[in-house]
Amino acid sequence: MKFLDQIDLKGKKLLIRVDYNVPLKDSVIQDDNRIRASVPTLHYAIAHEAAVIICSHLGRPKGTRVAELSLAPAAKSLSEILQTQVRMASDCIGPEVAAQAAAIQPGQLLMLENLRFHAEEEQNDPAFSQHLAELADVYVNDAFAVAHRTHASVVGVTSYANVCCAGFLVKKERQYLGDALENPERPYVAISGGAKVSTKLGVLNHLLDKADALIIGGAMANTFLFAQGFAVGKSRVEKDLAEDARSILEKADSKGVALHLPVDFVLGESPDCQTAAGTCNTGNIPDDLMVLDVGPKSLTRFEQVLKPARTVMWNGPLGVFENRAFANGSQSIAKSVASLSDAVTIVGGGETGALIHMLDLAADFSFVSTGGGSFLRFLEGNKLPAFDALDNWDNRSSG
Ligand code: 3PG
Repeated sequence: MKFLDQIDLKGKKLLIRVDYNVPLKDSVIQDDNRIRASVPTLHYAIAHEAAVIICSHLGRPKGTRVAELSLAPAAKSLSEILQTQVRMASDCIGPEVAAQAAAIQPGQLLMLENLRFHAEEEQNDPAFSQHLAELADVYVNDAFAVAHRTHASVVGVTSYANVCCAGFLVKKERQYLGDALENPERPYVAISGGAKVSTKLGVLNHLLDKADALIIGGAMANTFLFAQGFAVGKSRVEKDLAEDARSILEKADSKGVALHLPVDFVLGESPDCQTAAGTCNTGNIPDDLMVLDVGPKSLTRFEQVLKPARTVMWNGPLGVFENRAFANGSQSIAKSVASLSDAVTIVGGGETGALIHMLDLAADFSFVSTGGGSFLRFLEGNKLPAFDALDNWDNRSSG
């Protein structure tokens, strides 16, 4: 894979694929971290006298033009961050866009409209890919968060672009996540939370091949408790995955990986109830209540496990952190990991990254991934389609 700093950019037109799939409320961006994460690549391109065409998806409009999913607010936000004008194109392909792209000059930026307004984007359509590639001299992928999707602007475009490379965000994501998986400093402690075992089976299995200890929290832990024969009350549980949970426990055992489940729980009547209904230990969850957070004894244990860690990889919250009554587990773990100044600490997976930014702890982590699904696919040990596409281009061009 080539990176941006290996390419001569002077006077060139770049098509930079970013991931500006950011949360919006009434056209106001609620979290601009993905936009900020693209700034080093954009600064570099402008400083090296390239003309920059930015493209991204936003939401899932499924091939139709949805006004609320326009990238105009992202263009405005980027313009404020860079303190320079970011022009907004009317679409992402077509004669008008081609003319706008042809007209931009070195140092200028043009943002294309939401790629997913065209169904061809998600279909990885060859003609659509070619239209995108023809807007520029160089294609730059700096969209780690969508690197797991085989879409036109991620994969197809690399078959038609003259030159392809990755931007600095992709470089950083690959470096931090790759090192943690392949060459971690030990002890290596992984924390996995979130609601469903079903979406994390591959991640858990892969982490058991790599980590020294694995902490499991969130509603996911309920399935493990159920699999061990403990009462789980009204808790969210995936009963059909009990067998998978048991084989994960067995794998941990046979590999000598210390697997830590919560030993006590904060209970409630429903995920949106105002107050907690108390705490209890494993085996004592009443029939009419559900587990909504890990309890204080679990947190003390988890902190002990984390203390000697030299690498920590965290995905998924430990409780319903959006509800203040059940946020303590996730917030406490966030603070514990943030305080490990001698360890490489990495967090990702959408919700968890958002939590770290919300707590203003990002600077205390070694790296906060911008990836949600792509972060999980990477943790499963899979090569991401975007990386494959860039490597294939490299092989073709040097072969
Ligand atoms: C994300 O937010 O995880 C990425 O932007 C990918 O979005 P998608 O799941 O809609 O493909």
